[in-house]
Amino acid sequence: MIASKDLLGLCPLSAEEIEEILSLGLEFKKALKRGEKNRSELAGKSVVILFYENSTRTRTSFELAAKFLGAHVVNISVATSSVRKGETLVDTGKTLDAMKNDFIVIRHPAGGAPRLLAKTVKAHVINAGDGMNEHPTQALLDFLTMKEHFGSLGGLKVAILGDIRHSRVAKSNLYGLKKLGARVSMYAPRTLMPAGIDDMGAEICRSREEALADADVVMGLRIQLERQHAGNFPSLGEYAKYYGVNADVLKFAKPGALIMHPGPVNRGVELTSALIDGDTSRIEEQVLSGVAVRMAVLTLLNKEVV
Ligand code: CP
Repeated sequence: MIASKDLLGLCPLSAEEIEEILSLGLEFKKALKRGEKNRSELAGKSVVILFYENSTRTRTSFELAAKFLGAHVVNISVATSSVRKGETLVDTGKTLDAMKNDFIVIRHPAGGAPRLLAKTVKAHVINAGDGMNEHPTQALLDFLTMKEHFGSLGGLKVAILGDIRHSRVAKSNLYGLKKLGARVSMYAPRTLMPAGIDDMGAEICRSREEALADADVVMGLRIQLERQHAGNFPSLGEYAKYYGVNADVLKFAKPGALIMHPGPVNRGVELTSALIDGDTSRIEEQVLSGVAVRMAVLTLLNKEVV
């Protein structure tokens, strides 16, 4: 059970709550692999998907997850909604609540927007990514993918390289991985490393080799070109040469270390194409984990109101 009405981030969740989501997510993933897509956990419930930013994976997997659980699903296109007429987030939330919706899944460019919405509405609010703050279901699907391979996350070393400063995925991963007993090393140009992240438990490294040394998992993070307001690095080519992960650098990680990336990937920048498509890549597996873990989150939040 998730104690809160909403899932706003992994910072407020306990290790036990995260483990419960992962256990149920693993069951759902096995069922999906058996082709089971007609369930009834959310029968009679409605889920609104309200995205103020672009998405392929998160939007689609939430929609599929809700449908596989038997819910009614509505996608709101912000571009054609009353948001474009100046309606505030709070008023949009009140309107969706008045229609007796049970869940609102929100992605928003402003950190804290899901929390504001959650305070305003009776519906369960799920944060599908808010600015540079958190992306809790992405981190949960990453953990599910690791748990499937390793059995447990305790004692693992996860190396995270890329645009950590702008990354909500990095922050949710760090919060959750520390709670589950994993080590997290990080490497990025100093301009893409947020101040204070070492105080949150990350091991900040001075080289790719140091970050990858004995790592069980190597996670690349997308260079978020849309959030770069200044020249944080000279060019994508130079980023790839000095900060990207390639086969030579990967030799410092444990043999068979998993390659992960939340997507979308800038091929040849964060990771070489050979690694993205290689045997130890779990990038496509992460996508199916996303459907399963979102099914688990919806099911457990739904239980909370009973
Ligand atoms: N990882 C992720 O959030 O991808 P989308 O932006 O495609 O949803």
